Amino acid sequence: MNDVQTPYNIEQVRKQFPVLHQEVNSRPLIYFDNAASSQKPLAVIDAIRDYYLRDHSNIHRGVHHLARRATDAYEAVRDGVAAYLKAEARECIIFTAGTTDGINLVAQSWGRAEVKQGDVILVSALEHHSNLVPWQMLAHEKGAEIRVIPIDERGVIDLDAYGLMLEERPKLVAFNHVSNSLGTINPVIEMTAMAKAVGATVLIDGAQSIPHTSVDVSAIGCDFYCFSAHKAYGPTGVGVLYGKREVLDQMPPWRGGGEMIASVSYTASTWNELPYKFEAGTPNIAGVVGLGAAIAWMEALDVEQIAAHEHELTQYATRQLKSIQSIRIFGEAPHKAGVISFLAGAIHPYDLGTLLDQMGIAVRTGHHCTEPLMHRLGIPGTVRCSFACYNTREEVDRFIQATEKAVAMLT
Ligand code: ALA
Repeated sequence: MNDVQTPYNIEQVRKQFPVLHQEVNSRPLIYFDNAASSQKPLAVIDAIRDYYLRDHSNIHRGVHHLARRATDAYEAVRDGVAAYLKAEARECIIFTAGTTDGINLVAQSWGRAEVKQGDVILVSALEHHSNLVPWQMLAHEKGAEIRVIPIDERGVIDLDAYGLMLEERPKLVAFNHVSNSLGTINPVIEMTAMAKAVGATVLIDGAQSIPHTSVDVSAIGCDFYCFSAHKAYGPTGVGVLYGKREVLDQMPPWRGGGEMIASVSYTASTWNELPYKFEAGTPNIAGVVGLGAAIAWMEALDVEQIAAHEHELTQYATRQLKSIQSIRIFGEAPHKAGVISFLAGAIHPYDLGTLLDQMGIAVRTGHHCTEPLMHRLGIPGTVRCSFACYNTREEVDRFIQATEKAVAMLT
């Protein structure tokens, strides 16, 4: 159970993450790769373990006791997620394998039905490959065109340019809530309202926002919002696609199989109601249970407190990093989540990342699945540190000392 008390008690938080309390290369581990995947609190690990110890069965298919218990546990998470996102109904919450899976579902179902030759799809220059490649595949098949909303030198979306691009009346606008590479927090309410004013459908990639900010899909007004559990203290291989009910209702199913049907003959089938139309096959039941536990855990800790803690760490680490000669930071948006991307002189990010690892510090290096953005910035990639609720100022201090040492060794 979560035993975190307010005000924010970092030691209590850290106690709940056993993985943090180990040495890597004979140094206490510092885990600054949270944008790739966060660590899991005991509440999540225990929820998955307890599910397998007590409750496991297939869901929606059995009249026996365990089948009912497993189904109840799975469906209770749908209620929890709907409430957490402030969705208009539980039927708007589709369980997926993660953000990438959710975006592909929309591209293959909504996209193949709605996008026609000559249609325009707008994406931002900040997008992860998972919010670009599925649209490229669709555009290629349909003869549609992809246009890229530009950003400025700080990594901020150019809203004037976006406004002009909307005059082309795009069919779809797809952008992230928070950039995984630069940390930019995009003005999702304003961008959605602008897109809606010209009749565009809006999809938001929330992979990096869910662990750092509360999300109200009804206030945002988007048609689709997706996220993964594993970046938000939950398990891998599970996520959520929120869709507006009237939009989901019109969409054909994507994957065929068990549970997504109402009736089947040897020649034809009819489809189940929402949300089951989009959940073919036995889902990741234990993963969904873990996702529910992760959301409950974040709510108990208070996501706004997490955000404030990470903001303070980000500002502190940015100031310290800038004091190291030759460091260049990429992404200096005024509204930024806990991500710092940087390079040191001409040092290759892999070399710096490898030396940091030798000092027990986990960072991500490379293009962060945003290769076009790296081309736009004219760099091969960056070293990226990304913070979570359990990181500390002391860890930042050790990271700064290690970075200074590594830069001196590699220069
Ligand atoms: N999308 C993940 C990242 O940014 C993997 O690292």
